[in-house]
Amino acid sequence: MRLKNQIAVITGGAGAIGRATAKRFLNEGAKGILLVDLDSNKLKNVIKSFESDRIKYFTADVSKSEDVEKYIRKAIREFGKIDILFLNAGIEGVVQPLTEYPEDVYDKVMAVNTKSVWLGMKYAFPHMIKNGGGSIIISSSVAGLQGTPQVMAYVTSKHAVIGSMRVAALEGAPHNIRVNTIHPSPVDNRMMRSLEEGFAPGAAEEAKKGFEKTIPLGRYASNDEIADLVLFLASDESRFITGATYTIDGGLTV
Ligand SMILES: NC(=O)c1ccc[n+]([C@@H]2O[C@H](COP(=O)([O-])OP(=O)(O)OC[C@H]3O[C@@H](n4cnc5c(N)ncnc54)[C@H](O)[C@@H]3O)[C@@H](O)[C@H]2O)c1
Repeated sequence: MRLKNQIAVITGGAGAIGRATAKRFLNEGAKGILLVDLDSNKLKNVIKSFESDRIKYFTADVSKSEDVEKYIRKAIREFGKIDILFLNAGIEGVVQPLTEYPEDVYDKVMAVNTKSVWLGMKYAFPHMIKNGGGSIIISSSVAGLQGTPQVMAYVTSKHAVIGSMRVAALEGAPHNIRVNTIHPSPVDNRMMRSLEEGFAPGAAEEAKKGFEKTIPLGRYASNDEIADLVLFLASDESRFITGATYTIDGGLTV
């Protein structure tokens, strides 16, 4: 019971990593979890599958400040405090050379993947300060540590959140708010199916095999493996860790 009495908010909560993390948090005794996502149908199904009154949902666009303010307010209204904030919502954009990359997609990816992280912290910080601290975990990617051709917006957005994390870690430290980023290599879920298809239209399986060859451990991560790292960073076991970039990539970036 590593999260006993803890309240968590998870954005991108209807997605693969969000769901796996919510499950892990519930099993570790979290007292309340708010799942936030743009997709209300998916959210409802996820909530139903958990069959727990400790988990609630809120439909919001994390790139819009009024929505972010509302989801934070909902968490406080529902549970009274926020101990853990997992800023995890994200989109992949498209796979296109930088000369062809559509400007509207670039702006959208930056808003959903990067601006949302600042907004989440902007509205959660006052409550965490009042509560005596908290842990914020941000979903970056190996794409936040190295380049990949043809995914300009995604790579830029995932590098940018390291800067957001560092500023927040320094501003949060006097209040016992810890802030860290996680950097997964490909995870076996929808987002990778979309990217495989983008890199190799009609030959996604081949693309997957190619990606796997670049990973020293020889495979994609599972959603549960990412959830285990998030759990560690959320729990008291990581109480002296802040401002850190946690790679979880089977050796890809070594
Ligand atoms: N899947 C991977 O291989 C991988 C690797 C490294 C990092 N990541 C990152 O992990 C995070 C979670 O991704 P995932 O793999 O679970 O993918 P996913 O697509 O299953 O989940 C992402 C969720 O974010 C939600 N979302 C999208 N736009 C939103 C918005 N504007 N407001 C609120 N919610 C929104 C989607 O509805 C979806 O449920 C993302 O930030 C992603 O970039 C994923």
